[in-house]
Amino acid sequence: MLPDKRGYFGAYGGRFVPETLMPALEELTQAYQQAQQDAAFQREVSYYLKHYVGRPSPVYRAAALSKKIGGADIYLKREDLNHTGAHKINNTVGQLLLARRMGKKRIVAETGAGQHGVATATVAALLGLQCVVYMGEEDIYRQSPNVFRMRLLGAEVVKVSSGSGTLKDAMNEAMRDWVTNVRNTFYVIGSVAGPHPYPVMVRNFQAIIGEEAREQMLAQRGALPDCVVACVGGGSNAMGIFYHFLPLQEVKLVGVEAGGLGLHTEQHAATLNAGRPGVLHGAYSYLLQDVAGQVRPVHSISAGLDYPGVGPEHSYLKDSGRVQYITATDEEALEAFHLLARTEGILPALESSHALAGAIKLAAQMNKQQSILVCLSGRGDKDVPTVAKTMGVELI
Ligand SMILES: Cc1ncc(COP(=O)(O)O)c(C=O)c1O
Repeated sequence: MLPDKRGYFGAYGGRFVPETLMPALEELTQAYQQAQQDAAFQREVSYYLKHYVGRPSPVYRAAALSKKIGGADIYLKREDLNHTGAHKINNTVGQLLLARRMGKKRIVAETGAGQHGVATATVAALLGLQCVVYMGEEDIYRQSPNVFRMRLLGAEVVKVSSGSGTLKDAMNEAMRDWVTNVRNTFYVIGSVAGPHPYPVMVRNFQAIIGEEAREQMLAQRGALPDCVVACVGGGSNAMGIFYHFLPLQEVKLVGVEAGGLGLHTEQHAATLNAGRPGVLHGAYSYLLQDVAGQVRPVHSISAGLDYPGVGPEHSYLKDSGRVQYITATDEEALEAFHLLARTEGILPALESSHALAGAIKLAAQMNKQQSILVCLSGRGDKDVPTVAKTMGVELI
């Protein structure tokens, strides 16, 4: 079972952190292992996932979209229907219940698209925990509805102006806060990134997506999907939907990275397609870096994919060839966004639109008897201002 005891997925993962954080990571690892074996904790997580988040999320056969494309039958795993509008809530329910169990009263988090921040602020409000969310200046601007939501939920949103003012910089600041306040503070990482045990813990909290979807596909279609597709920022919704399909070799697994303005431009966030291994945020994994090894600025129209790193398990799955990683550009994601809106009446998050764009390309090369399951990781309400801007529409 991966990772190994030291948190390695093959060559990737581990713990590259200041010494002051080592005891905190060890404390977290122990607490998580104990919680995993505690039936009462598992019941508590399941209770909130069912009655608060609204799980199981449905799998929906997108018949009109499939007809329009004329290839494989496309199914959507509707994580957009979860409370707060994305898959991020699955992980925050798990981590904040763990924080409460560990007696930590203060929560810090980083957020890019704001969905992880909203999910953290939501569960912190529910459990009566103090919550501070770090967010890059650029993301505060492009995801302003989510910033206001976090404040309404009682969280303090701290603006991070360093670097490019995006997720990477927010994560640096959240880690700095954690180092300073480690005794009373729990750091909720929002993806399968960061030092061990975060990648395995977040994957396990998100694995409910694929566990449900596998059963739902068998029940609805009477067969496994031929292909499962998800977008990859840090990689948590992808690991969540892939995990229970990994042993099933007949199911093709495809991750879609942000191709931004195109891989030739350097204005993208396609870490696995264009990066090489290095250390970022406490883990060894693929990373977009310049010749000197400095982390490269990245770009994506979608704030949740605008990250130069990726979870270490994805690096392992890329090298092993079990998962194929492709890209979709900003333009292709926008096209997919509009297509889903018009054919199915669903506004997908711009992150999820990348997965959809990838699936549309793949479906066109497949036949009607085949099927593709797409992780629709979140809803597009938060992205309406961004999409309006691309259309030259001014919202009042
Ligand atoms: C709706 C949605 N999908 C996907 C992502 C990307 O994160 P991950 O790759 O960890 O699933 C985000 C991140 O903010 C998001 O909000």
